[in-house]
Amino acid sequence: MTVPPLKKQRTQPETANARIYEATASAPVNIAVIKYWGKRSEALMLPTNSSLSLTLDQDQLQSKTTVRVVVDADGKENDAALWLNGNREKLSGRVTALLARMRALRVTKEAKDASIPRLASKPLLIASVNNFPTAAGLASSASGLACLAFAVNAALQLELPPADISALARLGSGSACRSLFGGFVAWDMGSKPDGSDSVARQVASETHWPNMCALILVASATQKEMPSTAGMQTTVETSPLLQHRIQAVVPDRMAAIEKAIAARDFDSFAEITMRDSNQFHAVCLDTFPPIFYLNHVSHRVISLITMYNQVKSKSNGRKYTVAYTFDAGPNAVLYLLKEDVAEVLRLVNSYFPNGVDAASSSAVDEYYGLSKQFLK
Ligand code: DP6
Repeated sequence: MTVPPLKKQRTQPETANARIYEATASAPVNIAVIKYWGKRSEALMLPTNSSLSLTLDQDQLQSKTTVRVVVDADGKENDAALWLNGNREKLSGRVTALLARMRALRVTKEAKDASIPRLASKPLLIASVNNFPTAAGLASSASGLACLAFAVNAALQLELPPADISALARLGSGSACRSLFGGFVAWDMGSKPDGSDSVARQVASETHWPNMCALILVASATQKEMPSTAGMQTTVETSPLLQHRIQAVVPDRMAAIEKAIAARDFDSFAEITMRDSNQFHAVCLDTFPPIFYLNHVSHRVISLITMYNQVKSKSNGRKYTVAYTFDAGPNAVLYLLKEDVAEVLRLVNSYFPNGVDAASSSAVDEYYGLSKQFLK
């Protein structure tokens, strides 16, 4: 976690008579240790609980987006086209709303200054790539939407501060608001009906805990069956456990994990992280019909880490050496200190000699093989 969160790579051209305005940005993923799951307002994208994440080093996992404003294009006003990982995609309602909001900010700017180029309603060409599996529970929407808001801000020359870009990114995907900042980032749920106090806040910078590392074990790179948005909506509608979580559990956990981060207290950080991941998946099971994001490989990873922590604590005196957490998918994110990475990697490689993903796919093959036989 040594790299600042967002990079504007280029904006061109800068001359007043330019016909094409373009900006490219890259943004990192963030992986929550206190999970956001549930909205109290879909329209304003306001969560039912606060959350906290770590922004990962973007040289490892990143979204990269180029936004081009075509001044002389024949295209219709306010048109936009999107390519995701090289494929033309339809714009979602949320992305359309986000672009409309950002164009409106440009309209206000142009109204105040007659000398600046008229970009507000020009067609936008957007190309975005992720260097990791998209929609597989690896927070691609967080980095993707943060990157989109950042790149549109640059291409339309809005000059918004990071806090404003974060609030706009939230309209695209809730977790994206945290990817605008590096290090340890809270998203305070807020209480105002207009959502103006539901904002991301840096709790500690990327240099605060320099030996904190993340290892990602990809158990499956295929797209998840239940997208987060739909899943959390069903949870809000059906899970009594969610009500307990948001009222009686998360507020204390947020305070406790912030304290653990400030004190670089890995034992407390790890226990809260694992408990919160467990409770998030318990809430998914309590949803009706239930949502299963973990698979048998995820369960094996949990057992392995639990066992390793127990054995290790006898020699290093620490309660936990590794913390696991799982988002809306079977892939594990392990948080651990740099000095423990080599040994944990050896452990994982010896436990999954053919790779974590191979362990997953063979089970899937087995399952389909069995069900095929059964259906014969
Ligand atoms: C499990 O931010 O993808 O990763 O706001 O509907 O776009 P929308 O959902 P999204 O949900 C992320 C859920 C999570 C937990 C987290 O990142 O806090």
